Amino acid sequence: MNEQQTLTALEQHDEFIARHLGPNANDIAAMIGAIGAASLDDLIAQTVPDAIRLPAPLALAGPQREQEALATLKAIAAKNVVKKSLIGMGYHDTLTPKVILRNVLENPGWYTAYTPYQAEIAQGRLEALLNYQQVVLDLTGMQLANASLLDEATAAAEAMTMARRISKSKSNAFFVDAGCFPQTIDVVKTRAGLFGYELIVGAAADAAAQDVFGALLQYPDVRGEVKDLSDVIAALKAKGAATAVATDLMALVLLKSPGSMGADIALGSSQRFGVPMGFGGPHAAFFATRDEHKRSVPGRIIGVSVDARGKTALRMALQTREQHIRREKANSNICTSQVLLANIAGMYAVYHGPQGLQTIAGRIHRLATIFALGVRRAGFKPLLDRFFDSFDIATGEQTAAIHAAARAAGYNLREISAAKLGIAFNEKSTRADVLALLNAFAEAGRLANVCELARAFDEADIEAFDAEAAANSPIANLLRDDAILGHPVFNTHHTEHEMLRYLKRLQNRDLAMDHSMISLGSCTMKLNATSEMIPITWPEFGDMHPFVPLDQAQGYLEMIKGLEDWLKAITGFDAICMQPNSGAQGEYAGLVAIHRYHVSRGDTQRTVCLIPKSAHGTNPASAQMCGMSVVVVDCDDSGNVNVADLEAKAREHSGNLACLMITYPSTHGVFEEAIKDICTIVHQHGGQVYMDGANLNAQVGLTSPAAIGADVSHMNLHKTFAIPHGGGGPGMGPIGLKAHLAPFMANHVVQPIDGPHQGQSAVSAAPWGSASILPISWMYIAMMGGTGLTQATKVAILNANYIASRLNDSYPVLYTGTKGRVAHECILDIRAIKAATGIAEIDIAKRLMDYGFHAPTVSFPVAGTLMVEPTESESKAELDRFIAALMSIREEIRKIEQGLWPADNNPLKHAPHTQADLVDAEWNRPYTRQEAVFPLPWVAENKFWPSVNRIDDVYGDRNLFCACVPMAEDAA
Ligand SMILES: Cc1ncc(COP(=O)(O)O)c(C=O)c1O
Repeated sequence: MNEQQTLTALEQHDEFIARHLGPNANDIAAMIGAIGAASLDDLIAQTVPDAIRLPAPLALAGPQREQEALATLKAIAAKNVVKKSLIGMGYHDTLTPKVILRNVLENPGWYTAYTPYQAEIAQGRLEALLNYQQVVLDLTGMQLANASLLDEATAAAEAMTMARRISKSKSNAFFVDAGCFPQTIDVVKTRAGLFGYELIVGAAADAAAQDVFGALLQYPDVRGEVKDLSDVIAALKAKGAATAVATDLMALVLLKSPGSMGADIALGSSQRFGVPMGFGGPHAAFFATRDEHKRSVPGRIIGVSVDARGKTALRMALQTREQHIRREKANSNICTSQVLLANIAGMYAVYHGPQGLQTIAGRIHRLATIFALGVRRAGFKPLLDRFFDSFDIATGEQTAAIHAAARAAGYNLREISAAKLGIAFNEKSTRADVLALLNAFAEAGRLANVCELARAFDEADIEAFDAEAAANSPIANLLRDDAILGHPVFNTHHTEHEMLRYLKRLQNRDLAMDHSMISLGSCTMKLNATSEMIPITWPEFGDMHPFVPLDQAQGYLEMIKGLEDWLKAITGFDAICMQPNSGAQGEYAGLVAIHRYHVSRGDTQRTVCLIPKSAHGTNPASAQMCGMSVVVVDCDDSGNVNVADLEAKAREHSGNLACLMITYPSTHGVFEEAIKDICTIVHQHGGQVYMDGANLNAQVGLTSPAAIGADVSHMNLHKTFAIPHGGGGPGMGPIGLKAHLAPFMANHVVQPIDGPHQGQSAVSAAPWGSASILPISWMYIAMMGGTGLTQATKVAILNANYIASRLNDSYPVLYTGTKGRVAHECILDIRAIKAATGIAEIDIAKRLMDYGFHAPTVSFPVAGTLMVEPTESESKAELDRFIAALMSIREEIRKIEQGLWPADNNPLKHAPHTQADLVDAEWNRPYTRQEAVFPLPWVAENKFWPSVNRIDDVYGDRNLFCACVPMAEDAA
């Protein structure tokens, strides 16, 4: 201990910074030396153009120690008042089985994985997602399900656009059942407006009387009503219209499926299968359709294929790379979805099995039926005869008093009007809840002299109502008669031991960041620190319904406001919209704001969106969703936007220019010097600048989107601000906007948000998107403070330059800035190797698995390359291991160049290697088994075994099969 140190220094308020950053001071010095810079600041000066550097350090408080930040956030969380919310409207309280809570939701083995593009090291969550698809298929009665969308409302909007693709009708109108959730109608309204569709909202029964290309119905509807939709659907079909049914998986455990009623699409939220309400999210939306529409489905589909040994193997099928390949012709812009939450919902079904689910659904329904009988006795009329778990009640003048009594007893009911309220029971509801609520109603009934019962309700009443309910189900003729979840996976893991081991077995098949660095360029796979993750499972955050009266959500509002203020300081923007729950959704929300801005000025013709060739596929896909036409701008030989081309195109489209979408630093991993000029050109021609914030991790504290000249930008909180990728979601993509665009950002119809954007329709189901994961970013910023965040940016740039400079001789770095530096990522060019040897980037990607590493980003943004983004939280030791692996692979390639190994029979072409290779009696390859599986000495110390050999993608797409594999085949 240094006696001279002050107490403040000893208190180590900045302790977390060193926990988050990989390299320490000595490492940094060594790395700076290795790349030939004078200091870290010298490197930054060589990398980030002077013209865009911030004049002053980031004005943020902190940093705080881990326990300090946790205590501060706990105090904020305590301002949330957690009541039992029986509000319904698509959000229901649920019991996350503890074995799933601890071993999936709180387990870095599951939450730090990436989207399963590298399928050979992702078989675990691919199986979990296949289970999820099977649950959706069984319950909806459809033939093809995807592995999740962002939320129910956006899934409904996707259903509308899919209906347009598959419909035979020429009509330009889309029908929406007035019984849909209001937030769903609002999100669909936003999307319909951009496509110029007429939206007709009316009673479901009237749908077929309209001339429409499609219809969205809700089953059970917002009031809780359950009715057979077969006739309406058939009538719509006869007119060539496609029908989508928004539905509820828990209700479908008991009720006839939408598939059996003839629906073309079924969608909804799987939240109530074990995923906390979390003030609106994250939750996985499900989406299913009929086989004939499989090529029109938005989102990712998990499919079954075979590996090089003919063993069953899973991977993402068909439109996995949809936006990258089809860009503005893509079915949707969905990229990050909600994989972790889909896994939880699927596992919930695995754990409970069909009987368990029937018991849960049966209990919910019984409690609702008992309550309906009791409330009638208390003098109030349920407004429905046929319901599953919810119904409206005519409460007349007693409405306010009942709400007050219910609230005092600890319950939130749905506020509908001065004379009516709604109630929705859920998995957590108990007979004690029913009793307490009946007595609240009875008290009001007695005051109004309408209650039959003079005394309070008691247990005997519940028993009596139960007997009556059992004999008289209100939905007897709507019950499903087909079996559900017959696959063994849903009938095996019902004890906690079996479930624990099943989860571990799947986890073992996946490579996540708890094993080694995942250097995916453009993805920013940084540390997701434990202290950042802890608050998300606090009940104060987890158990909040998104539509509670806001006086109960003061903790959430304070946390969100704090985070917004920090994000404003970091980005330089004037306003933040927290609604988008992915980066691509942020793009959409930003373009919607730009579109509304132009329209407000009478510039309805401004619909051209300029997008550089190098852009991520979601950019053109999002532009298309906003009814914009995409004009591609060239890049020059150094990978920068070709300014002359940009200027020419901006001039050509001057009168119609809506915006430019640009990523900065570019997807080529370079800080383009001309960025300010680029923004000026676009502004001169009346356009707005949308900055794709995927690379914000290279900006924080050094420059900012607003300083550069952007008008609006999304921030991937699941990249720059430490939210884990969850194996393909959740994410959060809030947008920052300059003041002139703030009036045009999304608001919410059920829970309006203060600000200049009153009356604007929504882009997501929940007012603040996936609010329950915002504490992760809050904790990250609190613990890093302005100094830590800025240092993180510098180290991210250092780590990338260290990799670039050490690997450049083995694999040329494709693009650098004017001073020879890369930004926070670098592109390794494999094209010359491929031309000379036939070894492709994908072979290197697969071979890295044998060394225990996940591949960098393959062939984006340039085909034939690998893009590496190490992030600041990788240590020098881990970077050195990764570099050693890639150098060793380069030596292997040299043996092919020298003719020592045949071009088609070498460790790269056969990669990845599995234990099946190790024990294969017929090993007749020109390299040893040792070389195959332990290519460097340290690999054996911590060997990761891919569970399958190279997967045959083409076979899987030709023989599309997207449900759980029958057991006998699985064993193959
Ligand atoms: C440059 C870029 N833009 C947009 C996106 C889409 O973001 P999200 O996956 O959060 O929808 C990504 C995703 O990796 C990206 O790299």
